[in-house]
Amino acid sequence: MSDKTYPPSDEFVANAHVDAAKYKEMYAASIEDPSAFWREQGKRLDWIKPYTKVDNVSFEPGAISIKWYEDGTLNASANCIDRHLETRGDQTAIVWEPDDPEADARHITYRELHEQTCRLANVLKDMGVKKGDRVVLYMPMIPEAAYAMLACARIGAIHSVVFAGFSPDALGARINGSGARVLITADEALRGGRKTALKSNADAALLHCDDRVQCLVVKHTGGQTTWTARDHDCKALMAEASTDCPPEEMSAEDPLFVLYTSGSTGQPKGVVHTTGGYLVYVAMTHELVFDYHDGDIFWCTADVGWVTGHSYIVYGPLANGATTLMFEGVPTYPDASRFWQVCEKHKVNQFYTAPTAIRALMGQGDEFVTKCDLSSLKLLGTVGEPINPEAWNWYNEVVGKGTRPIVDTWWQTENGGHLITPLPGAIATKPGSATLPFFGVQPAILDPQTGKEITTTEAEGVLCIKNSWPAQMRTVYGDHERFEKTYFADYPGYYFSGDGCRRDADGYYWVTGRVDDVINVSGHRMGTAEVESALVAHPKVAEAAVVGYPHNIKGQGIYAYVTLMSGEEPSDELRRELEQWVRTEIGPIAKPDLLQWAPNLPKTRSGKIMRRILRKIAEDDYGSLGDTSTLADPSVVDGLIEHRLNKG
Ligand code: WTA
Repeated sequence: MSDKTYPPSDEFVANAHVDAAKYKEMYAASIEDPSAFWREQGKRLDWIKPYTKVDNVSFEPGAISIKWYEDGTLNASANCIDRHLETRGDQTAIVWEPDDPEADARHITYRELHEQTCRLANVLKDMGVKKGDRVVLYMPMIPEAAYAMLACARIGAIHSVVFAGFSPDALGARINGSGARVLITADEALRGGRKTALKSNADAALLHCDDRVQCLVVKHTGGQTTWTARDHDCKALMAEASTDCPPEEMSAEDPLFVLYTSGSTGQPKGVVHTTGGYLVYVAMTHELVFDYHDGDIFWCTADVGWVTGHSYIVYGPLANGATTLMFEGVPTYPDASRFWQVCEKHKVNQFYTAPTAIRALMGQGDEFVTKCDLSSLKLLGTVGEPINPEAWNWYNEVVGKGTRPIVDTWWQTENGGHLITPLPGAIATKPGSATLPFFGVQPAILDPQTGKEITTTEAEGVLCIKNSWPAQMRTVYGDHERFEKTYFADYPGYYFSGDGCRRDADGYYWVTGRVDDVINVSGHRMGTAEVESALVAHPKVAEAAVVGYPHNIKGQGIYAYVTLMSGEEPSDELRRELEQWVRTEIGPIAKPDLLQWAPNLPKTRSGKIMRRILRKIAEDDYGSLGDTSTLADPSVVDGLIEHRLNKG
């Protein structure tokens, strides 16, 4: 960790929405009188019926309830599209850059976005979708993904986007979990020149779903797919549909979307975000954290299957009438300069990506960057995992030429938008620190042993938030008890993030990573319990334990210890079979990087697996195993150490 600070340039500050004095003043106001502060910020949106109430929140154990702007009504799609038509109907809303650099990019104006969204909304209505119904999206990074999200919002349906890298099983579970009757997908996704058969995956998923589920298929690559009676050609239906679809009047607290995310136990949970507070918060953070100015081209490289894509490709930018870039491909296709070529081609002003991508590109050499004209860039951002100072420095020097502020934004699916982040014109950055809280956010560091808040400036412990912010998740879909238990039970009165954190003498926050059994692989959240349950579902596996270990590019890799059923013999073939099994059960992102055969797992006398020890062995740090005397059979550990796979 470095304590060197990087203040923004005078030139940047002069142009910025928020400078240091304004940050202090606004932050103080947001904490002293949150209702007044957020009452004012709510005016960023167009309301059908204005709110009179602002916040109505209880973090009381057993009575967790979070409401913002609850008596106001609005429509998210109207806020992202219709209200811009008069002044910027011909402005580009979405720049779409295809996977193939030779293919034509598309510039979709706000007027076109309106037309396409209305058409798709009418198609959904014709299929019987009504306010409050759920619609699952399993989509490539194509404009139709944004149309589909906004079309749902327009008619009051709740979208649930499933990342296109998830397997049929994972997709099926999410369709069933949400009770959706419509799935929107495409024939194939195209990434890095390779096709993924989304429609075939969808067919496999739907084998385990209600017969009444209908499937809207966007013909994207034209790849051959099998069509059945429940399938509909999305583009053909859109072409026939009316371009007029009045937006549904929604309560601020009506759900806008559900997004599944991994936790430390059990299967992924459906994070529920509602309409008013979420949209206020993502619009505000998009404008201030990225210092977005009218006319800028904003690029967030995330996939719409993750929360970052929801908040900072679609809802935040479009609520602000911005131009948002959507990229179908991958950073290394056709070569490692693709990101920078796209920046040059479209004159990108703000560029927002994940540390794992930065590390991967850094390893390819500087020429891929330096040969491109990056003079349009004004700001760089990162999200998804802690950024190591080497990667930060490379991003700063080679990509940013040492003159662009870097915003390292800490937040989670549950948060809806940035919680701890530099405001680029106000806060000097330190490589590896997300710096200071956004307006209205009161972080707290708690001692995990005592559960008490540490009030000294310098502190280390678990990261909690003391108060609510408008984009906070409201509940776990269909399971409010799980919501309370996951986020409010361990530290009553606080929202518990699951992250460890240090606060330095300047009050800067340094998020160190998860303190629970969630790992962060290439910026993707993965529950170790999910991978374990996939492994033990294989008939030859008796037991499995999964932990994370440090990985140069991915941040963390997946290390699996597998105990076979008696009579089964370990082999390379079986290892490959198990890897393939996990890909099929969850998806390629869950495939173990290292899989060690474990005749036995280290357990306490009461039968609990001691993960602490397994983590140490996976990290190749077995010299500091600590106390192993509580193990039922300490000799198990020696065997595991001897055959460890991550030898330093
Ligand atoms: C991690 C992504 C350090 C953290 C928006 C969190 C980060 C999890 C940062 C949420 C950051 C995200 N610095 N760690 N700037 N941003 N994280 O739900 O562990 O996919 O709990 O949301 O990513 O991941 P999620």
